[in-house]
Amino acid sequence: MAGNFTFAIVKPNAIRTGKTGPILAMINEGGFVVSAMKMVYMTTEQAESFYEVHRGKGFFTELVEFMTSGPVVVMILRHENAVEEFRKLIGATDPEKADPGTIRKTFAISIKMNAIHGSDSDENAVREANFFFAEIERY
Ligand code: CMP
Repeated sequence: MAGNFTFAIVKPNAIRTGKTGPILAMINEGGFVVSAMKMVYMTTEQAESFYEVHRGKGFFTELVEFMTSGPVVVMILRHENAVEEFRKLIGATDPEKADPGTIRKTFAISIKMNAIHGSDSDENAVREANFFFAEIERY
């Protein structure tokens, strides 16, 4: 399964402003198949654990506060070479550096409120999908 899927999160700023539908449309138009999806409202403990790799960085506390400020939509997305292709679709972490037509260029407000997350490696796609979904191979 690794290589054929990635994991994504529609972040609270995008949910709050009603952009879930438009973002899903861009994901669909990009050729990705949504093979698992749910809305979750993370606890502080969950967000700290999900973002463990960023613990100790200057933005960690505000990242956790933001990601627990409202519900998010988590998804497993299928596509050939999914991690790389999805990162092209979403654009750079900093929306000012994101290419025109990318999801972040279109919907991000700032580096923190950058509308969407996509896994940065196959290994992390497995870890992140497992964090929110049981038995991911079923999807
Ligand atoms: P993402 O790559 O999805 O996951 C880690 C997140 O940390 C990243 O998106 C940003 O939302 C956030 N992040 C990274 N750098 C900064 C920063 N300098 N200030 C605030 N948030 C950041």
